[in-house]
Amino acid sequence: MEAEVLNALRDPAGLPMHPLVFLVLGVLTFALHIAAVQLMLGATGLTLWGSLSKDAHKRQLASTMLGVGKVMLSVAIVIGVAPLLFVQVIYDPFWYTSNLLSAWWVIGFIVILSVGYILMYAYYWMNGDLANPKQSVKCPGSLLASVVLLLVVGFIMHALTNQMLSPDLWMQWYAPEGKLDTSGTQLHSYNLWRFAFFISLSVPVTGAFLIAMRRFFRVRADADHAYLDWVGALGLKWVTFGGVISVIVAAFWMMGLEGKQAEFATSPWMLVSLVALLGFVAYATWVWNQQRDSMHSYMVLPVGAVALIIVAAAREALRWSVLVGQFGFDVMGYPLNIDWYSTLLFFITFAVLGGGVLSYLLTVAWQAGQTVGQYTPSATVVRMGHIALSLIVLWIVHFFAIGFYVWMQ
Ligand code: HEM
Repeated sequence: MEAEVLNALRDPAGLPMHPLVFLVLGVLTFALHIAAVQLMLGATGLTLWGSLSKDAHKRQLASTMLGVGKVMLSVAIVIGVAPLLFVQVIYDPFWYTSNLLSAWWVIGFIVILSVGYILMYAYYWMNGDLANPKQSVKCPGSLLASVVLLLVVGFIMHALTNQMLSPDLWMQWYAPEGKLDTSGTQLHSYNLWRFAFFISLSVPVTGAFLIAMRRFFRVRADADHAYLDWVGALGLKWVTFGGVISVIVAAFWMMGLEGKQAEFATSPWMLVSLVALLGFVAYATWVWNQQRDSMHSYMVLPVGAVALIIVAAAREALRWSVLVGQFGFDVMGYPLNIDWYSTLLFFITFAVLGGGVLSYLLTVAWQAGQTVGQYTPSATVVRMGHIALSLIVLWIVHFFAIGFYVWMQ
């Protein structure tokens, strides 16, 4: 497809801020999204594994991981919206074409996600006493079905992203052999190795979480150290085994790249990502062997996050090298219609509202998790809660006020 056609398809309204801002935010929020997806998948995988066992440790872990899986599913969905917005803003001709070509799947995404979500909760409601190995587990099939449906959801996103990368094939998909196919019922392009790579990272990501979790619960007066050490050792196995498997899967992904994408396999981005992933595995191994009771156990999470951000940046570089480098799409030359108000509002909302509310929620979760028996928040934490709530109310009032102001103009 001609570069002029692709560039002409850009939104004539232009961008409200420099494209680089959206590009960076897209990478960062995708890394957050995929980290939550991976922890959700890893946690539900462990829940399934533990649920099918009569072993007390496995059942205890299954019960804890079900809670993690549920929360992470919500986080993955909420944070998934952010890269969705950014990809639409700077790659709109590609994203919308890909969505239209598979419109049924785009709509089906919501239905499949909702059913997967409900099935996870159904399993949770049916198995209130999962930690008790004497209790038989009810309907593990519902959790299995939930995981399968959530994987389908991820696969739809993967196919939409992959279809974007082949504008030269769009006409062939839209009008095979000259006959129009406006049904939108097909997923035209996927790369199983690429998909498997992002899913396989669930294993090391969840392993890192287990190492940090062991450290977190260790300080409780009622801590079961035998259980927690077992959890940490399992975490290290998941980090090392999963890390190596992910690298192998990535190698197959790169070796299988065809057409305009193939050149990327030998780019420095791949080398940097490889070093980041293996560096993370080495760091987690060092922490477990030398520093498992120190604060380093928590550091495996930010170190893993940095590795994921590097992988997310490499994924973006692949898209850039194809769409900009090979098809001539001009992201940086996107018409600008600078809107400082909406940009500032975004960053202030992110920092002040997001920061304030998250600090409160994380403080409560952290302190409650380390308290034996009933948790009573201190006066400072209660104050944090009041401030967080006031910020939300203020934001909502501001939202309607600005809406009315614009409407009245
Ligand atoms: C809960 C199940 C989900 C799973 C397993 C999942 C998995 C994935 C995977 C594997 C990718 C990477 C695809 C690739 O690069 O090949 C991805 C990308 C993405 N996902 Fe999700 N996802 C889920 C839910 C969601 C939801 C609910 C949203 C939106 C609200 C979302 C938005 C996105 C976006 C915007 C991208 C990247 C688009 C791009 O940069 O091209 N995902 N997801």
